[in-house]
Amino acid sequence: MRTLRTARPRHYLMCRPTHFDVVYSINPWMDPRRAVDTALAVRQWERLREVYLDLGHTVELIDPAPGLPDMVFAANGATVIDGRALVARFRDAERAAEAPAYAEWLRGHGFADLRTAELVNEGEGDYLLAGEHLLAGTGFRSDPRSHAEAGDFFGRDVVSLTLVDPNYYHLDTALAVLDDATIAYYPPAFSADSRSVLERLFPDAVIAGDADAKVFGLNAASDGRHVVLPQDATALADQLRNRGFHPIGLDLSELLKAGGSIKCCTLELRPAP
Ligand code: ARG
Repeated sequence: MRTLRTARPRHYLMCRPTHFDVVYSINPWMDPRRAVDTALAVRQWERLREVYLDLGHTVELIDPAPGLPDMVFAANGATVIDGRALVARFRDAERAAEAPAYAEWLRGHGFADLRTAELVNEGEGDYLLAGEHLLAGTGFRSDPRSHAEAGDFFGRDVVSLTLVDPNYYHLDTALAVLDDATIAYYPPAFSADSRSVLERLFPDAVIAGDADAKVFGLNAASDGRHVVLPQDATALADQLRNRGFHPIGLDLSELLKAGGSIKCCTLELRPAP
């Protein structure tokens, strides 16, 4: 029998890709010689926003800043849990100025309990809340010591996970939280130790294959029932359907040129309990 899945309305922050471009390379997907169609990126992003609104989610917008072509990837701006915000500290100078912009937006929108991370911490790119577990990625971007900093700030136990494949440089490129108890992930992106941890904590996880991982299928946003994911991740969508989820495939091909997709564009603002 299929499990009945329930959606919980979400509160998201997004940033329109008005100034999106690929002019530097800080991950293997980014090739500045390849042309980017910014207008197409905006249309694809608008579609994502519409889908969230149709699903009944709240979408807030932060103004895109010129000179910050990756600012569309709002997930990296912070991690927000229980109404408390831990603002990012980016590894790369090219993205550093995004952190104060996200801090200012959050402070201006009622998130007074806010701190900027001391150590490199790329927000929800590397920090994903799965029920009581704060899953934390390292290996490429967030400093492994930032995991303890985040655990202290949020008063939560942190599960440290090490990424080993540079194509999957943020946790949200290799792992998606589907609901409080269910995740999907791509095992080859993780160290052997981290794979054992995931197997122990999530014995029923959806396991993604190479083809779905390569099209960023795991860079998905779930409300517990609807899973918005890249449309080319068709086998993953079938697996989700078999588990009682409702996959919604979208084309974000332009943003993929920067190594980002659906989840990267989406920062969840979790309210105080
Ligand atoms: N070009 C951006 C970077 O390399 C992409 C960020 C993708 N965001 C994410 N949450 N995985 O930093």
